[in-house]
Amino acid sequence: MNEITITKPDDWHLHFRDQDMLLETVPATARCFGRAVVMPNLVPPVTTAELALEYKSRILAARPEGSDFEPVMTIYLTDKTSVEDIKAAKQAGVLAAKMYPAGATTNSDSGVSSLESLYPVFEALADHGMLLLIHGEVTQKHVDIFDREKEFIDQHMVNIVNKVPHLKVVFEHITTKDAADFVLGAREGVAATITPQHLMLNRNDMLDGGMRPHNYCLPVLKRSTHQEALRAVVKSGSPRFFLGTDSAPHTKDRKESDCGCAGCYSAWSALELYTQVFDELDALDKLEGFASHYGADFYGLPRNTEKVTLERKEWVVPSNIELKGGHNIVPFYAGKTVSWSLKK
Ligand code: NCD
Ligand code: ZN
Repeated sequence: MNEITITKPDDWHLHFRDQDMLLETVPATARCFGRAVVMPNLVPPVTTAELALEYKSRILAARPEGSDFEPVMTIYLTDKTSVEDIKAAKQAGVLAAKMYPAGATTNSDSGVSSLESLYPVFEALADHGMLLLIHGEVTQKHVDIFDREKEFIDQHMVNIVNKVPHLKVVFEHITTKDAADFVLGAREGVAATITPQHLMLNRNDMLDGGMRPHNYCLPVLKRSTHQEALRAVVKSGSPRFFLGTDSAPHTKDRKESDCGCAGCYSAWSALELYTQVFDELDALDKLEGFASHYGADFYGLPRNTEKVTLERKEWVVPSNIELKGGHNIVPFYAGKTVSWSLKK
């Protein structure tokens, strides 16, 4: 197959950042995605309906002319989030709340430190038909960084899913066989997003032959057996797994540093790279479900009606993106050849 036409896809997890950066990130995503779930980990975080609405209007202002791209807004849970905050978010059209364990990842310092006290908030989310999006890693420093996702499942995920049985939960950017197996075996109403980098790479791609800071993201890349397990679940076509790029830009100087930031900026190439992966897996017939159907269905939103076409045609991801003001971003897969292109 040299060409594939699918329903316009959505990105169910990404980071647009704010201010001038929106002029780069919003068009890069709107070029091929109909909607995107926008993560709330700004500094300070988007914790309320009011902040989410203000952020949404800044995103819409950065939309390319004529684009009908729609951001799906989320709020950031903290120890102080109340049931009233959830109600207000629902009324403002916010569809989901994101839970970061405090200190788990970039800009998560205000995240949740006592999960137990948040159960009334989880109940409120479920009652209002909102989703709980989880960064599933423990933050205990003695736990090996490669084991933090599995530990989170055992310590917390099982409880959250079982104690609030009517809550829809998305286990975000899963990286392990343990997470894939957990989601496959969980009750209805539990799903996961998977990034392009976790399908394409394993920890050797970050560490072998030299440190590759642009492949460093959280949860960190795991060993190849986990990568293979993720590839197997997307190939299976299970509707519990859908597209979430976790596109997460950081400037070049903040990635190439003695304490480099986590995050891969994949918006320029993510859809094409997912297509490449499904092609390698001989599963192009499963791409549309993963990219365009299962996420919308899980969120209870209509599927997009437009189509996009990808063709087998090589192109090279730029090695650098220059931002207004002189900063640079090295995008994910910079300087490398992608075998599928979005047909204009
Ligand atoms: C994200 C970011 O930079 O905001 N980084 C990342 O490595 N994925 C945060 C996150 O999703 O963990
Ligand atoms: Zn993320």
